[in-house]
Amino acid sequence: MESHNEELDSAKLLRAQSHIWDHIFSFINSMFLKCAVDLGIPDVIHKYGKPMPLSKLIASLPIHPTKTSCIYRLMRLLIHSGFFSQHKEEEEEEEVEYVLTDTSMLLLKDHPLSVTPFLLAMLDPILTKPWYQFSTWLKNDVTTPFETAHEGMMLWDYAGSDPNLNNKFNDGMASDARLVTKVLVEKFKEVFDGLESLVDVGGGTGTMAKEVAGSFPQLECIVLDLPHVVAGLQGSENLKYVGGDMFEAIPPTDAILLKWIMHDWNDEECVNILKKCKEAITSKGKEGKVIIIDMVILENEKRDCESVETQLFFDMLMMVLLTGKERNEKEWAKLIYSAGFSSYKITPLLGLRSLIEIHHHP
Ligand SMILES: C[S@@+](CC[C@H](N)C(=O)[O-])C[C@H]1O[C@@H](n2cnc3c(N)ncnc32)[C@H](O)[C@@H]1O
Repeated sequence: MESHNEELDSAKLLRAQSHIWDHIFSFINSMFLKCAVDLGIPDVIHKYGKPMPLSKLIASLPIHPTKTSCIYRLMRLLIHSGFFSQHKEEEEEEEVEYVLTDTSMLLLKDHPLSVTPFLLAMLDPILTKPWYQFSTWLKNDVTTPFETAHEGMMLWDYAGSDPNLNNKFNDGMASDARLVTKVLVEKFKEVFDGLESLVDVGGGTGTMAKEVAGSFPQLECIVLDLPHVVAGLQGSENLKYVGGDMFEAIPPTDAILLKWIMHDWNDEECVNILKKCKEAITSKGKEGKVIIIDMVILENEKRDCESVETQLFFDMLMMVLLTGKERNEKEWAKLIYSAGFSSYKITPLLGLRSLIEIHHHP
């Protein structure tokens, strides 16, 4: 009896150790993926046009001859994680061949909806360095771990002073905006129906607004973002760029788009942003609306484990880079009502994110 219990105990012990190991080395998931993208592995396999044998892959990659044996091992992990699949099982004489999966299609640099710019921005050492300061930050009174890691500079100020980071960050956001806009315009075009004007607040370099302005030629669109983000950008017939601060003023409009803005800010800052939005949509005296695209954290039982984990990762990311957080429906409702709006509607049609529409009836 005792030995059976001991066996159980040692099984538990080893499982616990393995669980901890898995978390210690989770960063390897990010790093091998970045390495694959840096080397252009998805692009090389795609360009080959049929299942690509290992030797051909090695010959096509910009690697040193002393490193050729590393590629099989890198590919083995990439296959395990679902980024490629193995076309042919290894047999004695046969060489293993690789094909892309749906996931690695989205890592192709030339894919119109490529996630690669977002990956390169998020895994830039400037954005990963603050993670080492997380516990230090919890013990000090500095606003964000990002500032603890970067001599007191906030993310937006850092981007304003480093054109390389600014471009990388804006490109990363633009790549996400392309994917979201495609889904939104395909599945939920009616969200823009009947509007005459729209301000994309914190709209980055205008990817989403450009797409919307193109699909709705009667709609006057404005992208409002910080001056270093919109500097030098050319608008079009129905699209204008305005450099400014959303906490100061938002141009009068029928509707406001806030994509991935609210999760950057704490509750007090969000209420201030929403109040500024309310001023902007009521100044025309008509019925106006605020369209938010952000996550709504759902209860565990409503989502699969991986999705919940990704949402919680984003919540930590907001704590480390900025003052923001991801919110559940109750927390969203509190912000919306605190800003003086009386109703909202959540439509969960964007994968891990939702569309939150807030109407103002005069
Ligand atoms: C997470 S990005 C989202 C960009 C874009 N909405 C998208 O989803 O692709 C947040 C944006 O807010 C902008 N931003 C930060 N502070 C701002 C402010 N005070 N006024 C206007 N825009 C601001 C940043 O420059 C950045 O472009």
